Amino acid sequence: MSATKKMGRVSVPELRARKGGEPIVCLTAYTMPMAQRLDEHCDLLLVGDSLGMVLYGMDSTLAVSVDMMINHGKAVMRGSKNACVVVDLPFGSYQESKEQAFRTASRILAETGCAAVKLEGGAELAETIEFLNQRGVPVMAHIGLMPQQVNTMGGFKSQGRGEEGAEKVVNDAIAVAKAGAFSVVVEGTVEPVARRITETIDIPTIGIGASVACDGQVLVTEDILGLFSDFTPKFVKRYANLGDEISKAVGEYASEVRTRQFPTDEHCFGVAKKGNLRAV
Ligand code: KIV
Repeated sequence: MSATKKMGRVSVPELRARKGGEPIVCLTAYTMPMAQRLDEHCDLLLVGDSLGMVLYGMDSTLAVSVDMMINHGKAVMRGSKNACVVVDLPFGSYQESKEQAFRTASRILAETGCAAVKLEGGAELAETIEFLNQRGVPVMAHIGLMPQQVNTMGGFKSQGRGEEGAEKVVNDAIAVAKAGAFSVVVEGTVEPVARRITETIDIPTIGIGASVACDGQVLVTEDILGLFSDFTPKFVKRYANLGDEISKAVGEYASEVRTRQFPTDEHCFGVAKKGNLRAV
């Protein structure tokens, strides 16, 4: 959360105005309890389609549906009251046409109450971004490494390498900013390119594996907490090992159940104590 505390959620124009200012703090959130924990610390909660991999064990984000995004978006809205909530448009729900994108985005906004949507794409989606923005749908763009393009990119590979690669990502950034995106996630992009983008465009860049040069940072919460260990990208910093804590706690519970150490009288109803009934 910004140092200057205020009532109500951080708005899209407020985030947009943070260009070049205090870095924007963003994390992914998929559930109500996690959103409750993150809300006071974050400017922005992203209901990312990474939930397909992190929560559902999918190999990629491609099979995530609009209904899944809506259900998780609603949960995150229930669990937060300060952060701006942005929900991802999943693969196949917006690329066909700007009209399809509007139908999906307006449904997500109306059913979840979130403030904005995020979509993956650069210059090729500029027209769609403009169409949505002009019709009341704030858009966060996502360029560089775009997980929904895993098949055309040939894997989750960093972007912006070489002169041609760098020009493509920079041109994508310029195109989405010009189209009216209020901010742009720059993923898996080499530092000089992320820096050049941040210095060139007038909307905040939110980096993930794109260096400290960006106007803000986003990471997958489960990655930083040690709750997802299928693979850990180079750009992730682990701040806790909750996965190990969970294994330890559940191991203790299992052992106590097996040895009848749990439950004790303290956890039971109607156990006679000193001649009285404690709780019934
Ligand atoms: O889906 C997601 O969680 C994302 C972030 C990692 C940027 O797009």
